[in-house]
Amino acid sequence: MKIELPDLSLVCLVGASGSGKSTFAAKYFRSTEVLSSDAFRGWVADDEADQSATEDAFEALFHLAGVRLKRGRLTVIDATHTRREDRAKAVALARAHHAIPVAIVLAPPADVCLERHAGREDRRFSTRVVRNQHRDVLRSLKHLRREGFRHTWVLKEPETIDAATIARVP
Ligand code: CTP
Ligand code: MG
Repeated sequence: MKIELPDLSLVCLVGASGSGKSTFAAKYFRSTEVLSSDAFRGWVADDEADQSATEDAFEALFHLAGVRLKRGRLTVIDATHTRREDRAKAVALARAHHAIPVAIVLAPPADVCLERHAGREDRRFSTRVVRNQHRDVLRSLKHLRREGFRHTWVLKEPETIDAATIARVP
């Protein structure tokens, strides 16, 4: 799949924990383009897993995303985006800066996410959380355009995710 991204996009990665968002972001984008909710939790609370820091982390993340968009820099938000409210905030931010809101959905089979989850030390939540996120992602698919995402790319097979290419277009 050849993913075309307008130069000034705000890209929301959408996917359950273990779907491969951070791996995808590291492969296809510059590190400075990627704002990850985990990293921001770390910056505001010295603990990437501290869920109590989520609100502050997103405040800081959105601030930086806004500054980048104002300067015309493509920006990627690496967060699950499983909840409609979270996606809506990103769409609103993009619009405020005349950027194009883009969703790239990573939805490999739940078993793939769960298998990866099982192999990680840095994810303390239960498998049920991952299952629910996976379900929410699939349910969100038919709403993304109406929520305001101008382009939506949905990658469901691990092979498709691995083989994707990204082209930036004016
Ligand atoms: N992984 C893998 N093969 C892939 C993608 C990911 O083996 N094609 C592994 C990663 O090395 C990592 C785990 O699966 O150990 C989860 O991938 P990650 O990209 O971190 O998933 P995220 O979607 O970012 O998960 P989270 O929301 O928990 O940050
Ligand atoms: Mg991640």
